[in-house]
Amino acid sequence: MGANVKDFLAWCRRHLILVTVLTLVGVAGFGYVNIQVLHMTSEPEFCHLCHPAKGFGALAEVDSWEHSGHAEAGVSCLDCHGRPGVFGYMKAKLGGLKDTYMQLTITPEEKLSILENPGEHLVPSEQCTFCHTDEGNAAYRKKHKYTMQVVEMRMLDSVKNPEFRERKGLPDIMTETFVGGTHFDHSFHIEAFDLECNNCHFGLIHRAQSKSDRMNMCLECHDENQGSSAPKLSNCMTCHQAQYDLHQGIGAKGVKGEPSLMWAAEVGCEGCHTGAEDGQFRPSSETCVNCHDADYVEIFNDWAGQTKSRIAELKLIRSEVELLLKEADKRKRSTAEAWTLYEKALYNFRLVRNDGTNGVHNSEYASEILDSVAADFREIRKGLNEAW
Ligand code: HEC
Ligand code: HEC
Ligand code: HEC
Ligand code: HEC
Ligand code: HEC
Ligand code: HEC
Ligand code: HEC
Ligand code: HEC
Repeated sequence: MGANVKDFLAWCRRHLILVTVLTLVGVAGFGYVNIQVLHMTSEPEFCHLCHPAKGFGALAEVDSWEHSGHAEAGVSCLDCHGRPGVFGYMKAKLGGLKDTYMQLTITPEEKLSILENPGEHLVPSEQCTFCHTDEGNAAYRKKHKYTMQVVEMRMLDSVKNPEFRERKGLPDIMTETFVGGTHFDHSFHIEAFDLECNNCHFGLIHRAQSKSDRMNMCLECHDENQGSSAPKLSNCMTCHQAQYDLHQGIGAKGVKGEPSLMWAAEVGCEGCHTGAEDGQFRPSSETCVNCHDADYVEIFNDWAGQTKSRIAELKLIRSEVELLLKEADKRKRSTAEAWTLYEKALYNFRLVRNDGTNGVHNSEYASEILDSVAADFREIRKGLNEAW
């Protein structure tokens, strides 16, 4: 051992307390830096470095996510692309290291080909049911009991149902049959036909698949099941519950409405959806002119334009209100009533949004529902402010 090292050790022994403190600060600092690095490299901005395209499909994963309902609700990349729990998180981070290595070693063509052909179980159904059901959440938590509670690195780690679901205004897809505005029994379909989530939710997040593709997929199987209760093309109202409800002026919580004028005058679904039999499900403003004069295109544009901008506005307010509620929870204020009001508002908001027509199906009722959503959000804010 050289003289310098001996001197150094002797010095350390003389200043034991100082050395201990410095060492502890060093270790804590290193740990802190590491955790910051873990967080930073989990951000969509980081993924964007290598997945930078705009639109949908391969390379555009960050942009497509940004425009999704999941992003709106704060569900981020590793909430889907990393299994729940500490080990799930760490495994996803190791996958990230592999990504980085591959980025440096494979050709752009090879990368594109990997991204264009994601494995069928890249995001397994178990991941989805963790958030979207009570039973799946409980089962996963039980199976991975020891790795679930340690640290909270992302939203996923805090998902406990039914609380999470309810606060996000979501149904339990396995026990409820009115989901996303559609009358649809997940439990029956998944169990009877052994289906995975992505068999129907193809295109979720990253691909622009048309809704017509999805509807055709349902009808194909239903046509093969003649004599069963499976609804066929002409039974629009059996599947399209939200649109049906909106026409009748019902369905929203605490908001009474009237049937739309046209529904009252017995214009049925196929009165406007004239191309349905030919597979052309989606009408446009031009359809109005089948029965009205050309000015009515303007009415259509007014209805859709107004509702669309209100939905966009409420989307922002929704995130703000949710943040406020979470902050209030952290400060241990009583928020139970406010959360209940928030759940109701979200339910109503989603009813109009999921109708998918920006209120064209019943502009008056849609507008009343959105008024009530705005009022509920205002009241929650007011309540939280007053309690300061
Ligand atoms: C340094 C560049 C780089 C960064 C940063 C990066 N990726 Fe990737 N990613 C790649 C490459 C290259 C591939 C294709 C090769 C592979 O599968 O590793 C890929 C593939 C993927 C795949 C598909 C894997 C498969 O098996 O099909 C997913 C999912 C993914 N990345 C998610 C992410 C997420 C989430 C982030 C941010 C937390 C991220 N990536 C950040 C370069 C990167
Ligand atoms: C709600 C869950 C969910 C979220 C959130 C999510 N993804 Fe995905 N991702 C999927 C699913 C499901 C697939 C499987 C392929 C498909 O359906 O497109 C996938 C596929 C991918 C792939 C493989 C290539 C491809 O285009 O299919 C990449 C890369 C990827 N995601 C990156 C990201 C990044 C980056 C983010 C965050 C900005 C993100 N994902 C957020 C569910 C999600
Ligand atoms: C971390 C929890 C979480 C995970 C994991 C997750 N989701 Fe979601 N999902 C949500 C939340 C929250 C919403 C509500 C979005 C909103 O308010 O519009 C949502 C919305 C949806 C919707 C409604 C339509 C939409 O896009 O807004 C569908 C369909 C859906 N999820 C399917 C899936 C599938 C399939 C998977 C697995 C690939 C999955 N989710 C994974 C939390 C999650
Ligand atoms: C047989 C087709 C099919 C399968 C399989 C399927 N879904 Fe769905 N799912 C639907 C339809 C139809 C809707 C309602 C239409 C819509 O809003 O997209 C829906 C709606 C949803 C919603 C939206 C609920 C809401 O209130 O916004 C979620 C979340 C969801 N599904 C999750 C899942 C998950 C998780 C799986 C896998 C366990 C799954 N689905 C499997 C067809 C299916
Ligand atoms: C693999 C075949 C298959 C697919 C795919 C399928 N269904 Fe079905 N569905 C059936 C069968 C069979 C029945 C009749 C069950 C009975 O008579 O007990 C049915 C019944 C229904 C019913 C009426 C029963 C009820 O729940 O009240 C609805 C609504 C329905 N399906 C909606 C859908 C939608 C929406 C999709 C597409 C997202 C879809 N189905 C996809 C086979 C399928
Ligand atoms: C078996 C159930 C079922 C029946 C019956 C049905 N639909 Fe659909 N329809 C769906 C599903 C599922 C979707 C996709 C919803 C989604 O992805 O959000 C859809 C989507 C649509 C779309 C959007 C198409 C697009 O590409 O934008 C229109 C419009 C539509 N349906 C109209 C109708 C009309 C009109 C009828 C009656 C003539 C009808 N549907 C009957 C299940 C059904
Ligand atoms: C007054 C005319 C009119 C009537 C009546 C009507 N629709 Fe529509 N519907 C439209 C128009 C127009 C669109 C397309 C709006 C757009 O693209 O912005 C549409 C869109 C839809 C969509 C697609 C929503 C989405 O998610 O993209 C569905 C589903 C639908 N209608 C179902 C129905 C059902 C079910 C009925 C009967 C209960 C019905 N419609 C009655 C005019 C009508
Ligand atoms: C199948 C024929 C038909 C189609 C298509 C149709 N309407 Fe109507 N509309 C009617 C009938 C019938 C009434 C009720 C007559 C009345 O009370 O004046 C009506 C009433 C109305 C009214 C209220 C009364 C008035 O005349 O100002 C408005 C507004 C309206 N429609 C707008 C639209 C718009 C916008 C579209 C396109 C999305 C559309 N309609 C498509 C048949 C139709």
